[in-house]
Order: sequence, then C-alpha cells, then structure tokens
Amino acid sequence: MKKNIAILKGDGIGPEVTEQAIKALNAIAEVYGHTFNYTEGLIGAIAIDATGNPFPEATFNVCQNADAILFGAIGHPKYDNDPSAKVRPEQGLLKMRKDLGLFCNIRPINTYKVLANSSPLRADLVEGVDFTVFRELTGGIYFGEKGRKDGGNTAFDNCQYTREEISRVCILAFESARIRRKKLTLVDKANVLETSRLWREVVKELAVKYADIAVDYMFVDNAAMKIIQNPKYFDVIVTENMFGDIITDEASVITGSLGMLPSASIGSKVGLYEPIHGSYPEATGLNIANPNGSILSAAMLLEMSFGLIEEAALIRKAVEDCLNSGVVTSDIIKGSKYTTTQIGDKVAELIKTKKKELLAM
Ligand code: IPM
Ligand code: MG
Repeated sequence: MKKNIAILKGDGIGPEVTEQAIKALNAIAEVYGHTFNYTEGLIGAIAIDATGNPFPEATFNVCQNADAILFGAIGHPKYDNDPSAKVRPEQGLLKMRKDLGLFCNIRPINTYKVLANSSPLRADLVEGVDFTVFRELTGGIYFGEKGRKDGGNTAFDNCQYTREEISRVCILAFESARIRRKKLTLVDKANVLETSRLWREVVKELAVKYADIAVDYMFVDNAAMKIIQNPKYFDVIVTENMFGDIITDEASVITGSLGMLPSASIGSKVGLYEPIHGSYPEATGLNIANPNGSILSAAMLLEMSFGLIEEAALIRKAVEDCLNSGVVTSDIIKGSKYTTTQIGDKVAELIKTKKKELLAM
C-alpha cells in the first residue's frame, strides 16, 4: 500500500513524540512492504513565528492532499497568560478542524494492568475500564457568535446546533456501539439547554433505527460523577463539543497516564490523529516525554484511515510489550531513565523483529 501522510509536529513536545510515531510507521512499512510518504506542515505557535498565521494556507493544502494526518500538539506559554494576544495557537487548531471538516473526535479510554496503581482511583475501579467518547468537534459554543457589548462589560458566546450536525456524529457513535458492547450514553444538559433538548430528540429518533443498541441519557454533571464513581458503566459516550472537551480530560486521567492516550478526528475525506496530551512546554527538548500517545495515534491512523487492522494491532502489542517489560518513561514508573527516543527505538525494533511473537500474544 502506498499512502501520503501529512505530519504536523506543532509545538512543545509535539515534534519529539511525533518522530517516535514515524519510527513505528516506518517499521510497519518495512515489515509489510508498504510505502508511506511524509509531508510536513507548520501549525501552532511555531507557525505564528514563521508566518504570522497559526494554520497557514500551505498547511491546509498539505492536509488536503494527504491520505491521513499525524498531528503532535500545539500551545506555547507565551500566549497562555496574555488574554489580549490577537493571534493564538489554539485558533489554528479550531480553524484546522473546521476547514478540514473534522466534526467527530474519538477518544478511546482504556487501561493497562501495569498502570492500575498509577490512577488516582482505586485499582478495582479502574481495571478493565474500556469506553470511547465521541465528541462533536466543529459546532456548539466553540464556534458560535461571540463578542462583547455594553462598552465591553458584557460578553457572550452563542451555542447553536443543527439537526444535521448532531445526527452525523451520533450515527458514527451508534455504529461504533454496534461493534462494541452495544451501549450508548448521550451526555447533555437537557434539563437546562435547548441545544441539549435537540440532541435528545435526534438521538431518540436514531435509536429507533439502532434498536439493537441500549441507549441512555445522562446530564453532564451526573456523568462527571459517574466517570469517577463507576467508569466501567460506560461503553460509548456521545456528546457536544464543550462537554466532550471537559469529560475527556477527566476520563483520561483515570487511566493512570495521560501520555498513553491517542485520539482521532474524522468527518471528511482525511482523518487526523493525535495524542490527547498537550504541548507540555516544561518537557520540551528534554527527551523525557512519553511518546506512546503519539505512537498509538499512528496505530489508530493505520486502522481507521487505511484499514490496516493487523498493522495497528502490531503497534499496540509492541507498546504493551514495552510497558510490561518496564521500558517506559518516568511518567509511568517514577525514576525510570528511558528516554523518548529510546521508547521509539524499542517499539520500532519490536515491530521489526518480533512480529510473530507479538501477534500471538
Ligand atoms: C482539546 C483541547 C482544545 C479544545 C484546545 C487546545 C482549544 O483542549 O483538543 O481538547 O478545547 O478542543
Ligand atoms: Mg481539551
């Protein structure tokens, strides 16, 4: 198979973790005889420095011409404490999502045995947790009209959803539930918000067509509690943009390491894959960041954009093998001396030398 992959390394630790994911992709290409061509594009603070624009036209073109996109992270502390900054790295991320039509963000939350004691929750609550959040990504309060009035003393952010925006992401969530444990939870705030009432209406209508799926409805405040009290309750969650932003951060920490989690953003012809952690500026250039979130994002890319199921499984097994044998960064085992690049090298080596053994695991 011959494919073009856009590489957007972005800011902070983005470049160093993405490079490890590329090592894994190259190892897969070698083992299975695929050809992956990479084209880089600038995004985020680094793109502002170079061009004044956090998502330059050239980067959009690179993405449009690719078969899939691997993305690192964006964000730089110099913008975080400056509410008056006219151009911000995050604008590049939102514009990219909108311009590329990436309306559905998928964040799988699963746990690893070796990490059970790293979770802030009791191990018995965490072991076996396996759910996926489908977050609407190009609508809602993030993209509604916003502004100031009354001489700047009143601010507003409008939240709006169309039936079409809701149903297209819900259909993807229903389809996923169908091949998982057949349970779907809509997280909303239908006791207060009109947009949430429309979400319920649409999900109720779809539920008739997906009669094999058990559907339930949960207010977001209650869901926030339940994710902590009984995370095993969930299979597939579907929710609007801002609720999804908040509960996926909450869900990610119960796994014990934010550094392990991948995500996918899909919707139009080209999907985008990225670790769910941010740019982690304090660790930039130190070669200590956990690259597994990015490596596992490459696995999601192979599976979802290219249909390469076995190749994706092999990457996941190689990552698990590293975890089980203690080849991990210090966020997983305190004091561990393994570096970002060493993890990347080890995963690539396992893919190349231990394919049969790993796939039999
Ligand atoms: C995320 C991030 C972004 C979001 C920020 C950086 C704009 O938190 O991808 O979850 O809120 O969507
Ligand atoms: Mg977020």
